[in-house]
Amino acid sequence: MAKEKIVFYCQSCGAESSKWMGQCPSCKEWNTLVEEVVSAKKGNKSISRQEIKAKVTKIKDIKTAEEARIPTGMAELDRVLGGGIVTGSMILVGGDPGIGKSTLLLQVCKNLADASRNILYVSGEESLQQIKIRAERIGEFGDSLSLLCETNLEVIGEIVKRDLPQIVVIDSIQTMYNETISSAPGSVSQVRESTGHLLQMAKGLGIAFFIIGHVTKEGVVAGPRVLEHMVDTVLYFEGDRHAAYRILRGVKNRFGSTNEIGVFEMRSFGLEEVENPSEFMLGGKPEGASGSVVACSMEGSRPILLEVQALVCRSNFGMPRRTAAGCDFNRVNLLMAVLEKRVGLKLGTCDAYVNIAGGIKMNEPAIDLGIVLALASSYKNRPVDEKVICFGEVGLSGEVRAVSMAEQRILEAKKLGFTACILPEAAKSALPPIDGIRLQAVKSVKDAIDLLI
Ligand code: TYD
Ligand code: MG
Repeated sequence: MAKEKIVFYCQSCGAESSKWMGQCPSCKEWNTLVEEVVSAKKGNKSISRQEIKAKVTKIKDIKTAEEARIPTGMAELDRVLGGGIVTGSMILVGGDPGIGKSTLLLQVCKNLADASRNILYVSGEESLQQIKIRAERIGEFGDSLSLLCETNLEVIGEIVKRDLPQIVVIDSIQTMYNETISSAPGSVSQVRESTGHLLQMAKGLGIAFFIIGHVTKEGVVAGPRVLEHMVDTVLYFEGDRHAAYRILRGVKNRFGSTNEIGVFEMRSFGLEEVENPSEFMLGGKPEGASGSVVACSMEGSRPILLEVQALVCRSNFGMPRRTAAGCDFNRVNLLMAVLEKRVGLKLGTCDAYVNIAGGIKMNEPAIDLGIVLALASSYKNRPVDEKVICFGEVGLSGEVRAVSMAEQRILEAKKLGFTACILPEAAKSALPPIDGIRLQAVKSVKDAIDLLI
């Protein structure tokens, strides 16, 4: 008889503890430890020599076929995946509830069904009718997409083995359960065990699996974080629920680069790919307003132009308020200190609010110059020329430092009709000649402010 053991798992990071604690010692989240029963296996059976069938192989004897990739029919998704779905791989799509994960995967299923691929969509969250209603918004579906409403993994496993689809979508892993484990669906041990079970199927049968996982801040259901090390690819679907655009970001990818993003827009007929995110981000930029500057940030190999907005006003309290939306708060504080000390702006008595318009989050140091110029423009209440973009990292002594891929950034700005670009001096000297846009190199923040504001 297997002995039952009680273990406490952190629902946010998966850390294990033998007793309950208010705060997880590993990720420092509060109230996330949950009791789970694990049946201890008898582990005293040793393997006899005849039983070992596994063989070791020399690396140069292994033959690789050109790894087969299945295009998803969505260029943005293919880019994030590194060129399509690798057969036998496991892709985790995480994101907040309601962000559009089910919609994205149903659209992928539609494209794949149009290409006559055999697909199985397993839903543990919605009934067949509900999926059909959603599918009707997206469009006409081909014959090769089958739906299944089931949460028992053993049943799903049998159906997959019987039908052998090329691609399986599991929506969502938190609703799936394995009968051999007594804890509730969505708990760390269930989620982990279920993924392990699916992983064996994926590798054994060469079927690609998409797994949807919800992330919740309350830590009620085990976040997909505990699965990240098990799967091949981890994609996060993020964005403001109130804004229309969504960003698909690769966090881990065994078969491609992780710094690519895909941009989508949620429409009434499903998600639409945004081919030119810069144009999208700059839509609605005010004209002639102070505190608004266009900066350029790289996301993977793609330059994205975005509007940095700042509002600086006199503080009515002894302790000035500062907020940063879309960029790092500490970075904004640091840049304000640079402006105070190196340029002489009296920001110590001012409230300052910095915002990256569109709700996008950017943490690349290249937008430093944009933040600094937006702050200075708002402080002096003088607008910056609308046809100017800027990029560059700002150092503590007020110098503007070079950033990578200057040429791509300038070409993107030129494409969108900007006429001048403020860039670090060190970056300019390394550039090939580019015409059609005026390049103005600056050495320090002070130079840039003198030039523009
Ligand atoms: P959903 O894919 O159900 O989110 P998730 O699976 O991540 O929980 O989609 C959620 C939202 O998208 C929902 O609030 C409705 C909206 N939506 C549209 O705006 N247009 C559409 O065509 C569809 C299908 C959904
Ligand atoms: Mg869903």
